[in-house]
Amino acid sequence: MDFSGIDIGLKAISFFEKRKYNSFKTVNIALKEKTGIVDFFGKEEEFVQLQQTLNSNQNIVSENRIEYGDFQTNKQLAESVCNYLKNKNLKPQIIVEPTCGKGNFIISAIKSFPLQQVFGIEIQEKYLWRLKFELLDYFLTNPTANKPQIELYHCSVFDFDFDMVKKQIDNRELLVIGNPPWVTNATLSTLNSKNLPKKSNFKNVKGIDAITGKGNFDIGECISLKMLDLFSKENGCFAFLIKNSVIKNIVFDQKKNKYSISEIEKHTINAQKEFGAAVDASLFVCKFNSMPALTAKEFDFYTSKPRVTLGWVNNKFASDTEKYKKYQHLDGICPFEWRQGIKHDCAKVMELERIDSGFRNALGETFELEEDLVYGILKSSDLQQEIVDTSRKYTIVTQKRIGQDTQIVLEKLPKTNAYLQRHQDYFLNRKSSIYNGKPMFSIFGVGDYSFKPYKIAISGLYKQTKFTLVKPNETVLLLDDTCYFIGFDTLEEAQGIQNLLNQPETQEFMESFMFLDAKRAITKDLLMRISLVHY
Ligand SMILES: C[S@@+](CC[C@H](N)C(=O)[O-])C[C@H]1O[C@@H](n2cnc3c(N)ncnc32)[C@H](O)[C@@H]1O
Repeated sequence: MDFSGIDIGLKAISFFEKRKYNSFKTVNIALKEKTGIVDFFGKEEEFVQLQQTLNSNQNIVSENRIEYGDFQTNKQLAESVCNYLKNKNLKPQIIVEPTCGKGNFIISAIKSFPLQQVFGIEIQEKYLWRLKFELLDYFLTNPTANKPQIELYHCSVFDFDFDMVKKQIDNRELLVIGNPPWVTNATLSTLNSKNLPKKSNFKNVKGIDAITGKGNFDIGECISLKMLDLFSKENGCFAFLIKNSVIKNIVFDQKKNKYSISEIEKHTINAQKEFGAAVDASLFVCKFNSMPALTAKEFDFYTSKPRVTLGWVNNKFASDTEKYKKYQHLDGICPFEWRQGIKHDCAKVMELERIDSGFRNALGETFELEEDLVYGILKSSDLQQEIVDTSRKYTIVTQKRIGQDTQIVLEKLPKTNAYLQRHQDYFLNRKSSIYNGKPMFSIFGVGDYSFKPYKIAISGLYKQTKFTLVKPNETVLLLDDTCYFIGFDTLEEAQGIQNLLNQPETQEFMESFMFLDAKRAITKDLLMRISLVHY
């Protein structure tokens, strides 16, 4: 063990300097008595190394911050969370912190609750040492403080034997507390990391959904569900800092999972202030061993002000159940099919600007093309107005339907063909596997519907619910894959549907089941729920 960089603390340093221990076993006995920590040193070597490095006193820096989704909870926040739980009259006797890091939750819980036993698990050994020294400092400063038995394990949460913990609960009140890693399986796969549960497709997503990201999950979600699987039938409570998207998924999946949890609460925090992270996160709290609840009450963590209730209303999921009940008569199946726009994953070559002498691409190259395959294309940011009939960008529509042969068309268009051939590598290097085995220069999200002259469109990325009417200009205008649209043959039809969609009633209805903190606040599934027929 390399202790350099671990903040040992003055009291702990003087503890080791003052006393002369002849073996790590005798020092372990003294440390258990002082702190409750079982096996402070796992082996003699660690004790010897500590003595050699006792004078170093720098901060620990995690080398694998991204891979381990490492955002340590600050002391003040950990204390506020424990205070909140204490004020709810919780009196846990045993706590489990499955990814405890430097252990601020463990320390705050020891200070707040009449604990008898503590289990902390962490993959980064340096953090466990930091925690041990902090605990030593705490108990040396407060010798009469309540001293639970503390068991700290240097282990992956995915390999740890939680059954051993379960066997020791023995009807005592349990608190599972923590802040699991903030990282997704997609990021881990780009890092070639194995920091995943053994069954890594734990959402069982197959086919195109797996490719397009529906199979993307948060490691924090997977650890939360593991804790609920293991402990929701015990007496006690769960308190985890997690992303809002994870909370939404847990409540959504309650319909099928039916964990024995109730009094579900979501207390929104300012993750930028607390962790310097631009994510939406909250404290998720629930009671174990109770009738499965299907809704969660949202509060502001700092003011305790109640906000909305999210969750299930009969068979429908809402972000604001009260508002949803008011407009649920609009919920049904849209009579038109909402489509996603064109996907090419080749912006450098396929996003073009029109200039006097022809076109310019994102690489800054200028060139000429035949007009046959060139169409104006709109992105999410172009859908800010009620009516749009011009485009800043153009693209080459190499296919009129998915999978169509591209060579036959291109052979007749020498300039376009030469341009695409020159940039073949950009197409060949596209990461998404949807292009595998497809004709060269293939695109997705294209069909007859793409070429309808009038469209009602909305951005999937922006949080606004207003719909834009897209009219043709010199060509039919297309949309990119960040947008959704319905195509129409006549202006009247398109205007009529736009009018219905922009009614205050429809807008409020959408707000009642949109999750603004989702990466894509508006999805095809959501749009297909706007029935329109009730008007
Ligand atoms: C978001 S941090 C929070 C740490 C601590 N729970 C807190 O509240 O300060 C997540 C922690 O999980 C740890 N971690 C990541 N993957 C882990 C794994 N597979 N098993 C155990 N701990 C892990 C990281 O090293 C990091 O300390």
